[in-house]
Amino acid sequence: MTLKQLEESTAYLKQKGFDAPEIGIVLGTGLGKLVDEIENPIVAHYNHIPFFPLATVEFHSGKLIYGTMAGKTVVVMQGRFHLYEGYDLLDVTYPIRVMHALGIKKLFISNAAGAIDLSFKKGDLMLIKDHINLQGGSPLAFKNVAEFGDRFVDMGEPYDRSMQEKIRAIAQRENISLQEGVYVSVVGPQLETKAEYRMLKIIGADAVGMSTVPEVIVANHLRLPILAVSVLTDECDPDNLQPINIEEIIRIAGEAEPKMIKLFKELIKEI
Ligand code: HPA
Repeated sequence: MTLKQLEESTAYLKQKGFDAPEIGIVLGTGLGKLVDEIENPIVAHYNHIPFFPLATVEFHSGKLIYGTMAGKTVVVMQGRFHLYEGYDLLDVTYPIRVMHALGIKKLFISNAAGAIDLSFKKGDLMLIKDHINLQGGSPLAFKNVAEFGDRFVDMGEPYDRSMQEKIRAIAQRENISLQEGVYVSVVGPQLETKAEYRMLKIIGADAVGMSTVPEVIVANHLRLPILAVSVLTDECDPDNLQPINIEEIIRIAGEAEPKMIKLFKELIKEI
């Protein structure tokens, strides 16, 4: 990755009309409907953006969408890149750098995750307060990282406190139950064994998923304030583990999606 590549990606989008978006939003698996709320959308397919990671067959539909939501300009990633698709950590986080170069001042992230804390239920939302990186690498471990910012990035407070306070208040006001906890990222794509779910609980995780953490590390590198929410799509009970059902995970994410859209929209209004 070079600064020149980043400039070319950004120039392409600016010329399409992606003009100084205020907020970047990453939409997780099964959580694409928020894009229906974007006014005056301009769409850029990932495949057409110079230096964007080359899409896998499965991932032909990834798009970056620019427009207005709740009175603010946004740029939304419909579909993200995952390590389990064979991308590396620089690929996975490249779009975050592009959105930052376009000018975003805040980043919202959503994902689908499994509930490790068994007091949480399928379909609940969880505000991510902290995370554990179990993906075995860092998106900042590359030779010319110094061209992009510090090498040693502080991670003592990776999620923005004031946006957390705001979203808590919004959830309460809107009567949406919002759990809170620690998200652990794994590579996947296989799900966890019972022994792994037990381990994840012991090390302090409340939810597990296959994304988000690299994006959050890079957003911290860029000093972007982050707000992240998981939609809990399955309950990871090692003593009563159900066989994985991806259709069900996507269905549960879709059912919980209106709550997430509501929270994000209200938060956009208030920041
Ligand atoms: N494990 C990992 N990733 C996930 C899960 C899970 O149980 N559910 C949704 N994404």
